Amino acid sequence: MEATEQVDKRRTFAIISHPDAGKTTVTEKLLLMGNAIQLAGTVKAKKSGRQAKSDWMALEQQRGISVTTSVMQFDYQGHVVNLLDTPGHEDFSEDTYRTLTAVDSAVMVIDGAKGVEPRTRKLVEICRMRDTPIVTLVNKLDRECMDPLDMITHIEDELQVECTPISWPIGSGRSLRGIYRFDKDELKLYEQGHGSTTFNYDVIQGLHSPEAKEWLGADYDDSMEMIELVKGAGHEVDQQEYLEGRQTPVFFGSALQNFGITDLMDVFVKKAPSPLERETNEGMVSPYSDSFSGFVFKIQANMDPQHRDRIAFLRICSGAYRKGMKMRHVRIDRDIKIADAVTFMAGDRARVEEAYAGDIIGLHNHGTIRIGDTFTEGEKLQFKGVPNFAPELFKRVRPKNPLHAKRLQTGIKQLSEEGVTQVFSMMSNKDVILGAIGQLQFDLVAFRLANEYGAECAYEPCNIYTVRWVDSDDQKLMREFCARTQSQLARDGGDHLALLATSRPNLQIIEERWPDVSFSSSREHASIATP
Ligand code: G4P
Repeated sequence: MEATEQVDKRRTFAIISHPDAGKTTVTEKLLLMGNAIQLAGTVKAKKSGRQAKSDWMALEQQRGISVTTSVMQFDYQGHVVNLLDTPGHEDFSEDTYRTLTAVDSAVMVIDGAKGVEPRTRKLVEICRMRDTPIVTLVNKLDRECMDPLDMITHIEDELQVECTPISWPIGSGRSLRGIYRFDKDELKLYEQGHGSTTFNYDVIQGLHSPEAKEWLGADYDDSMEMIELVKGAGHEVDQQEYLEGRQTPVFFGSALQNFGITDLMDVFVKKAPSPLERETNEGMVSPYSDSFSGFVFKIQANMDPQHRDRIAFLRICSGAYRKGMKMRHVRIDRDIKIADAVTFMAGDRARVEEAYAGDIIGLHNHGTIRIGDTFTEGEKLQFKGVPNFAPELFKRVRPKNPLHAKRLQTGIKQLSEEGVTQVFSMMSNKDVILGAIGQLQFDLVAFRLANEYGAECAYEPCNIYTVRWVDSDDQKLMREFCARTQSQLARDGGDHLALLATSRPNLQIIEERWPDVSFSSSREHASIATP
């Protein structure tokens, strides 16, 4: 098959949701539909905890959560779907955000009773940074849900995005009768308890058909009126608006009951973008370009006790990976032969022979690869858009044993390069502050420092609200700024200058006082450090 066809077939996406909205259940059903797993429950098993496989997994089990995240590839209706898992519960971390930099689109799962919840809002914000298109699933229709019209208004108000319903629910919870597909004029009939074994629900063609009237009975007139109302007000999906993230096609369904999920997926593979071009310091790179290129968005340690190494997750942006090929590791300017890249078919490691733009491959890494690194077939370019995000949680760290200070320093430096945590060295004293997005990141750092670097650490609370990376072209201004705000300034792991604000008002005052200094809530990797 032609490489261009391979690119066109691919859909690389992530599911964004607040914990418990149903991400795992949807994932499970998608994998079932793609025949990637035989039994529902495979994905779930990660959560409930299997035998501990390694020290790393012992921590995972102790917390009853999944530390390992995966990339799942499966075929669906002639498409190759790459689903990137976004860590969600306690394992929510910067990896969750960064995974969104490696996808071309997202599916947002919302709990039909609860609506938009805080984490969904935050993840949509991250998607906005790159105008990532989003398809929405309002889930748990088999339970009592918000009125669908209210839900649409709620999503539009909360997320500032125009909703285009593709399907519409008739009832919810005990009174759920079915869903109506506007584009197909088709009614899908809900039958309780039918769903865990099959996706095949009966359909009736035509809302005005005698069969529809008969099925809906006393509910017919009201349902009909509502659907006509939505249709009348409704707008068809404007592909461009969707691709630019301003409009979201909306589906209603129940992942648990397999109801409405095929509708979502059928439309998703048709509408969602195939691999998009990506920005580099040398301009845009087309996925159709023959020359191989990609970037690392995540590094995972000790995923498997049989392979006690780190795996760098690389998103292919152009060309093809072929087993045994040579790649240029651009930052260190060295060619390396990649004989054994891996992929993660529904949780199992498999060797890749060939992979194309949109695919994710795992590179074995013995400490040389960092988040944001670019790999090419020789070209000197650097992909943009794999940033550090301003952490939301902060702790001061120190070695329990002062004699282990050096080890601790080495460990923290390496772990920050792997993206496990962010590190800030205060300029005014020798304090070292760790920054994270999820609480678990601190536990992982402590665990790995002790296990891999032989340095136990202690955390202390610190009064930091957020971080802004600061910069200005005016060197004189920067010197003055640094002199005045020195007690709040730090160097991050990449030696970039950062302001650690103690509160929102504190940040506001400083920003207002220094209008010509730029304050950024994210920082590109591998960009050139401030002198
Ligand atoms: P998450 O990954 O987003 O955190 O959510 P997950 O799929 O684990 O779902 C959270 C809970 O919601 C689970 O129940 C799951 O069964 C339930 N759920 C998901 N989709 C639906 C749905 O469409 N309808 C209904 N009624 N429930 C749904 P749990 O009791 O926490 O777990 P479990 O014991 O069922 O595994």
